[in-house]
Amino acid sequence: KTVQILAGQPTQVWSYAAELVKGDPNSLQAVPDSYLGPIIRVRQGQRVRVNFQNNLPQGQSSIVHWHGLILPEDMDGHPRFAIQPGQTYVYEFEVVNRAGMNWFHPHPDMLTGQQAYAGLAGLFIVTDPEEAALKLPAGAYEVPIVLQDRTLDASNQLLYLGSKIGTPRNDGMEGMGGMGSMSQGNSNQSGGSMGNMSSMMGFLGEKIFINGKPDFTLAAATRVYRLRILNGSNARIYKLAWSNGDPLTLIGTDGSLLSQPVTRKYVMLAPGERLDVWADFSKLKVGTQLALNSLAFSGAENVGGNSMGGMSSGNAPELGAAMTLFNVKIARTETETLQLPNKLAALPLLRPEDATNAAQPRPVELSLQGMKWVMNGQPFEMTTATPQETVKLNSIEQWEIINKLNPGAMMDAKGMAHPIHLHGVQFQVISRQVLPELAAGWQTVKDGYVDEGFKDTVMVMPGERVKLLMKFDKYSGLFTYHCHNLEHEDAGMMRNYRVN
Ligand code: C2O
Ligand code: CU
Ligand code: CU
Repeated sequence: KTVQILAGQPTQVWSYAAELVKGDPNSLQAVPDSYLGPIIRVRQGQRVRVNFQNNLPQGQSSIVHWHGLILPEDMDGHPRFAIQPGQTYVYEFEVVNRAGMNWFHPHPDMLTGQQAYAGLAGLFIVTDPEEAALKLPAGAYEVPIVLQDRTLDASNQLLYLGSKIGTPRNDGMEGMGGMGSMSQGNSNQSGGSMGNMSSMMGFLGEKIFINGKPDFTLAAATRVYRLRILNGSNARIYKLAWSNGDPLTLIGTDGSLLSQPVTRKYVMLAPGERLDVWADFSKLKVGTQLALNSLAFSGAENVGGNSMGGMSSGNAPELGAAMTLFNVKIARTETETLQLPNKLAALPLLRPEDATNAAQPRPVELSLQGMKWVMNGQPFEMTTATPQETVKLNSIEQWEIINKLNPGAMMDAKGMAHPIHLHGVQFQVISRQVLPELAAGWQTVKDGYVDEGFKDTVMVMPGERVKLLMKFDKYSGLFTYHCHNLEHEDAGMMRNYRVN
C-alpha cells in the first residue's frame, strides 16, 4: 500500500493490514496514516487466532514472529515455517505471558531486515490482573512510541541498503569483494562495497520516525503519561534522556513490569528492546517544550576507528550520534494526579544459584568471521542445534553472552554492540563485565541498562560479557536466538537452540 508520510508523493510500503474476524473490537487498534500494523491487545490466558496471508511480491517468503511471547515452536514464526506469497499460515495460541508490550514482525531467513524496514511491524500488548489493579495511565494517556530510523529518496520512497523497497537487494552479500572502495565514503553509491559495509554494520537511516512518521510532537496535558517505547529500528541504538535533565522513571521493560519503579539519568534501548516509562508532566507549565533525546555514546561500533557509521546510508547520523527523537509540548492543563505505585509486580525471580550450570554458564560467543558476525563460530543453519545448544525442559540455566575481542580482524574490528534476543523465553540479566581495554565506550552506556525485570533482548557492548538466568519451563522444540541488528541476523548471526 502507500501512505502519506511527507507532503508530496505517497510512500510505497509493506504493511500488516489486519481485519478483525471475531472478538472484542478494542483488541485491534489501527495506527492511522502509518505503515505500522495494528496494536493487538490481549489479556493473559486469552486464546488468539490469526490467519496470516502473505500478499508480498514474488520472492518474498515471510512468516510472523511474535517477539516476546512464549509460544509452541510452530506458533513462534521460526524461519523454517516461512510461507510463499499467496500462502496462508494459521496461528492459534494461548497467551501465557505476563503483562508487557511485545511486538510482531517478519522472520524469514535473510529477508527480515528489508521486510521490517518496508513497514512490517506491529505491537502486541498483554495485560494481566496484577497490572490492571495498578490503574496505570490508559486510553489517550498510554502512548505507544515505535522508534525507527528511515531514509527517503527525493520522491519520498524508502531506501534500504541503497535500493528501493521491493527491488532486489543490491548489497553484494554474495561477492564480498570491493573492500578497497570503502574508505571513499561515496554515499551515493548504491551497491557493492557500500552494501557490504551496511550488512556488516547494520542499516542506519537519516531520519527518526515515531509510529511511522518523522518530526513527531506529543501534545500533552499537565498529568502523567505512560509511554510504551519499542526500538523497532533495524540497527540503531538509542540513549534516551529528557532534554530538561530530569531522570527517566521506568516501570517496565521487555517482558514484564518491574518489581518497583527505577530511575535512570539515561536509558539504553537497542533494537528489539522495550521500555515502559512513567512520564510525569504534572509540574510543567502550559507552553513548555521538552524533548526526548538520544545522547551521544561511543564504542558501540568499534570497527575501523569508529568512522564507518555514516556510510550506511548517505547522510545518516553515526551510531552513537546525539539527536532529538521527538518533542513534547505541554498544551493544556489537567488536574488529575496519579501516584507512582511503589510496588508494581510480584516477579517470580530466580536465584543465580538455582541454575543447574551455575558453576559453568553456557557460553554464547559473538565474533567476526571474515566480514560476518557469527555466534559460537557458526552461521545460521535452518534446522540444526548442536549439543551445546540443547537444554532440558524445565531446567534453570545460566547463559553467558561474550562479545569477544577480534584480534587481527579486518580493519582492526574490535567489535560491535549486539542486541541478543532469545525466542521462547524471558530471562533475567544477572551480571555484566567488560574487558578493561574496552571500558571507555562501555562507561558511556553502562548506567543506562535496565536489567531489573524480565527481558528477551539484551544489549552486549564490545568486550562485554553478560550473564542471563532463565527457566525453560513451557514448551519443548526448536527455537532461535540471534542478534536483533536485523542486518546481522540476515547475514547469519542467528542459531537455534533445542528444548528437549
Ligand atoms: Cu524480534 Cu527473532 O525477533
Ligand atoms: Cu523474538
Ligand atoms: Cu549483531
